[in-house]
Amino acid sequence: MRIDIISAVPQLLDSPFTHSILKRAQQKQLFEVQVHDLRQYGIGKHHQIDDYQFGGGAGMVMMIEPIAAIIEQLKSERPYDDIIYMTPDGERLNQGICNHLSLKKNIIILCGHYKGIDERIREIYITREISIGDYVLSGGELAAAVLVDALGRLLPGVLNNESSALFDSFQDNLLAPPIYTRPADYQGHKIPEVLLSGHQKKIEDWRDEQSLLRTQQRRPDLLEE
Ligand code: ADE
Repeated sequence: MRIDIISAVPQLLDSPFTHSILKRAQQKQLFEVQVHDLRQYGIGKHHQIDDYQFGGGAGMVMMIEPIAAIIEQLKSERPYDDIIYMTPDGERLNQGICNHLSLKKNIIILCGHYKGIDERIREIYITREISIGDYVLSGGELAAAVLVDALGRLLPGVLNNESSALFDSFQDNLLAPPIYTRPADYQGHKIPEVLLSGHQKKIEDWRDEQSLLRTQQRRPDLLEE
């Protein structure tokens, strides 16, 4: 999978993909992330990328031309399955959307800044709008990083079998059960007996039960879905 991110502040994305699991995924060439500096496509000698709002009002608007120029450039290089705009008024991200998007070959993610982007970019280019939650960030970069991280770890070969994403919270609309490691007794705080029983079927049943219980207590809305 290849992801091209368009950003007015690419420095914000310097680090998130260069460590740990996503770093390994890129080294294994399972995954490629390219961050593009929108300002390089800006207009005139000041590389302008934003302008005042028609009709008045506070806040600058990201202009069409620089964004169109970079999207057209990328589209001339390869076909894209989706051009995603990160925005608080988009569809709220969940595991189902991540699973779906992780099957795509090439996607573009556009990060908004200032007040937002000229509406016509949405009409002409954007195929999907995604929000990472009901709060407003100062730009789409951190939201894009969240999306890329969630997609990267789903790609075949990125995680090993034991940590396979299939067992994550949310994969069945259920939260994950509690997990423990050594010591089995920490200052009197003991782990559940069943985990020491060596009885795999009982352990699986206990985990299923705990998953359900956790979901009922913390996220009953997931069960209604
Ligand atoms: N840009 C600003 N806030 C955002 C959010 N909550 N989700 C996605 N993109 C954003």
